[in-house]
Amino acid sequence: MSEAMNSRILGLGHYVPERVVTNAEMTRLMDTSDEWIRQRTGIEERHFISADTGPSDLALPAAEDALRAAGVKASELDLIMLATLSPDIDFPSSAALLQRRLGVSGMPAMDVRNQCSGFLYMLATADAFIRSGGARYVLIAGAEVHSTGLDLTTVGREVAVIFGDGAGAAVLGPEPDTRRGILSTHLHSEGKYAEKLMVEVPNSRSRPRVTPEMLSGPGSRLWPRMEGRYVFKHAVTRFPEVIHEALAANGCTVGDLDLLIPHQANLRISQLVAMGLELPEEKVFNNIQRYGNTTAASIPIALHEAQLAGRVRPGSLVCLAAFGAGFTWASALVRW
Ligand code: ACO
Repeated sequence: MSEAMNSRILGLGHYVPERVVTNAEMTRLMDTSDEWIRQRTGIEERHFISADTGPSDLALPAAEDALRAAGVKASELDLIMLATLSPDIDFPSSAALLQRRLGVSGMPAMDVRNQCSGFLYMLATADAFIRSGGARYVLIAGAEVHSTGLDLTTVGREVAVIFGDGAGAAVLGPEPDTRRGILSTHLHSEGKYAEKLMVEVPNSRSRPRVTPEMLSGPGSRLWPRMEGRYVFKHAVTRFPEVIHEALAANGCTVGDLDLLIPHQANLRISQLVAMGLELPEEKVFNNIQRYGNTTAASIPIALHEAQLAGRVRPGSLVCLAAFGAGFTWASALVRW
């Protein structure tokens, strides 16, 4: 038996496309207002790709930064994972495309299809690989191109104003001190709510997988469908639940936390969760104001920005938590 060990995040990186789309610009595309978007979601602007860019392209600079910060070469990676709900193409995986862009080959590469909790599902998988000795260095990247999959008209406004494009990445490696690094991960799923937040087309149930009827008219099945209030209600229940689960598993309390980084779904959700936990504002990191909801990319972008801002320092106890489509939800407790 090898000695018990933890895994640790060795380096982080993030990248968003240059084009900034303000709420004012959204009002030129659909019947909405800056006030409505800010009040209901907290979002002020988001980034959209310009043209012909996939999530693997956004993930590349994020991954390169994470590798540099970790002091790890791409050729040293034992596993590459990429979480996205907007893969570059149907197959092969965006992880394989990222591997190619990194100029390496041989090590396994796989996509994780877990929407907003994708980053934490990857973190748990990377952690398990490293602890078991199955891998030494693992790259995990969350990357999304939402902008090409949104109905940017008044019909789709409830969903369209929420999402943005971007990527975040982390490189993990072994940590011999079991009081540091990833202390625990908790993953959950409840597939019975699949229809509450979904994209139905293209799908392999129908032949052909896309028909003109599926795409025509308002409410095309190509666009995401979301029961906003339903999602909201479940999110504000599951976030605190899974955060408490992470703390309890480590004999910690909310008071021990230095920072909570929730998936950036909606500022109101984050504020309600913080209020329920009695966490002061300075102990919760939010950047949805500038990026919108970037799904699998939101936690690594936020974590990297928190680190750059000095809010995650050696010794910090950080809780990462997510909730999203599936429904799926997850948390990780990390001693930096
Ligand atoms: N601009 C202006 N008006 C709008 C817009 C818009 N973009 N979107 C909806 N409205 C209108 C509605 O048509 C409705 O009008 P009506 O009263 O005349 O019928 C009114 O605003 C209120 O609509 P509600 O849906 O009741 O608004 P609500 O306060 O619930 O906010 C929202 C909607 C922001 C989507 C909210 O339900 C929410 O945040 N839900 C959670 C969604 C979420 O976070 N999803 C992502 C998490 S999971 C993941 O990340 C994949």
